[in-house]
Amino acid sequence: MVLALPARTKRLVLRRFEPQDVEIFFGYRNDPAVARLQSWDGISRTAALQFVRVQGAVQAAAPGEWFQIALALAHSNQLVGDVGVCIGKDGRAAELGFTLARAHQKSGYAAEGVRCTVDLLFGVPAIGRVTAVTDARNLSARKLLDRLGFQNTATTHRLFKGAQCAEHTFEIKRAKWRGLAASRQPARPPN
Ligand SMILES: CC(C)(COP(=O)(O)OP(=O)(O)OC[C@H]1O[C@@H](n2cnc3c(N)ncnc32)[C@H](O)[C@@H]1OP(=O)(O)O)[C@@H](O)C(=O)NCCC(=O)NCCS
Repeated sequence: MVLALPARTKRLVLRRFEPQDVEIFFGYRNDPAVARLQSWDGISRTAALQFVRVQGAVQAAAPGEWFQIALALAHSNQLVGDVGVCIGKDGRAAELGFTLARAHQKSGYAAEGVRCTVDLLFGVPAIGRVTAVTDARNLSARKLLDRLGFQNTATTHRLFKGAQCAEHTFEIKRAKWRGLAASRQPARPPN
């Protein structure tokens, strides 16, 4: 089960992490505004180096393991963020998470990268469902998932970074994604 990388969208290339990504990755992973509603709280330079080295080399999306796809600008190859994917051990569902450096937010890049990632995941025949878990306070993430057609299917409550919070699980199934993808295609002119 290997994701077909690199992949291109209109403005981005989705690829493996590369050595020159370390500084930008280190920068946004240590931005408190970016980390606020994420499971992590910053990263050391050594850990960032190790992360980029490992993610650049491991199998793309081995079941049960998180794999991080780098999102880079197509025209410059500059890193702007990443999408993490984890295909379940039985290979039938995948979870994703996404992060964008602050300077590149509010440009539609995250949605573009996540849309392409979901296309790649549903390119794996066994995968029938893609999910994403987000903090209820994360309006940007909720809007993104909503716009792409994901539905909130469950809400749980837990202690997160010292505060009680609600977490939404968003989900989209293969048939719905395929239907939405078909409706996004421009209509073919009649013969
Ligand atoms: C969650 C996160 C990735 C969303 O990033 P984002 O840039 O807001 O998301 P999108 O790519 O969907 O961009 C949509 C915004 O870009 C704007 N935009 C500007 N130009 C655009 C274009 N050409 N195409 C599409 N949208 C565009 C849209 O109007 C929209 O703004 P709005 O949300 O104010 O309505 C980002 O906030 C982030 O990295 N947060 C920190 C990490 C995090 O919490 N991740 C989620 C974990 S599940």
